[in-house]
Order: sequence, then structure tokens, then C-alpha cells
Amino acid sequence: TTAVRELLLSRIRDVADHPKPGVVFKDITPLLADPEAFAALTGVFAEQCVRHGATKIVGLEARGFILAAPVAVSAGIGFVPVRKAGKLPGATLRQAYELEYGTAEIEVHAEDLAAGDRVLVIDDVLATGGTAEASLDLIRRAGAEVAGVSVLMELGFLGGRARLEPALRGAPLEAVIQL
Ligand code: PRP
Ligand code: MG
Repeated sequence: TTAVRELLLSRIRDVADHPKPGVVFKDITPLLADPEAFAALTGVFAEQCVRHGATKIVGLEARGFILAAPVAVSAGIGFVPVRKAGKLPGATLRQAYELEYGTAEIEVHAEDLAAGDRVLVIDDVLATGGTAEASLDLIRRAGAEVAGVSVLMELGFLGGRARLEPALRGAPLEAVIQL
């Protein structure tokens, strides 16, 4: 609802020139510290989970972990971490993606996802869409299906939705707040 969106928006702090000059950082720590706002956001994501028939939640390190874990508990389905490369101890699938300068890599434990799983990806921000796109590759390489991508904030001016579109293959991309 509009009231929930306004509550959430009021708990996101703009930090100028972080992490570098010219960038306005969207800080979600006030939202996390407000139990009413955090619970409301968890409820929105959990409802999307049900609506899309998700059987697993993938959270994207690091801020996606914080938002996704309570959704998994609330929806009664498993949580699967997608981590920055080198952190997971078991057999992993790895996917590279582009950053503003250079590339980065993310990984998932191959055994955490399987055929028959429908996976909802949760993160705090969709910016260029590179991170989310790489996570969709991992999910499909693990044999699972993409139920959707859900983010708290979509930074529309960075064009992430258009970039992600082909990789979604018709799965929904939902943003609670459009910026
Ligand atoms: C930020 C943000 C998203 C991603 C969005 O994470 O939390 O995960 O960037 O950017 P993109 O759409 O251009 O890929 P970051 O990689 O800074 O790491 P963090 O979550 O560990 O802080
Ligand atoms: Mg992140």
C-alpha cells in the first residue's frame, strides 16, 4: 500500500558522496532499526513469495541477506545465500558480472538448488542490474527455475530493468520503491 511505501521511504537515508564523490548512497539501516518498517517490508516480500509460488529464497550478499532471511522464515521456505566468490566452502557454481570498473564474481552452493525449485531473488537495490542478472544465471545453471526478482529499491535512471529483462524470461521484477 501507499502507507507502507511511505513508511519505508521515510526510513531510507540518503548519504551524499558515499562511497565516493557524486554518489548518493541509499542507507537502509534506519529501516532495519525500526521493527515496524522491517516487519512491513518482510510482509510485502513474503506476500510476493506466495503469489509467485516460490519454494526457495535467494538473498544476495550482503544487504540482500538481511532482507531475505526473515522473508524465508516468514514464508516457511528455505534460504539460499549467493555470496561473493571465495566465501562458500562447498562445491559452487560461479558467475562473473561487470562492475563500473572491472568485474566481480558471485557463487552459490550447487547442492542448495535443484530441478523443481522456484526461486525468488531478494536484494536491497537494483542499480545497473548486473548482480541480479548474474544470480539468475546461477539459479538456472543449478537447474532451478526463476520465480522472480524482488528489490526494496529500483534506481530507474540506471536502466537495470531493461538490462535484466532478457534474463527474466517473463519472470516478474518487482520493486517496492521506484527511485
Ligand atoms: C549493491 C546493492 C546491490 C547491487 C546493485 O551491492 O546492495 O546488491 O549493488 O548493483 P547492480 O544492480 O549495479 O549490480 P554491493 O555489490 O555494493 O555489495 P553489498 O550488498 O555487499 O554492500
Ligand atoms: Mg548488494
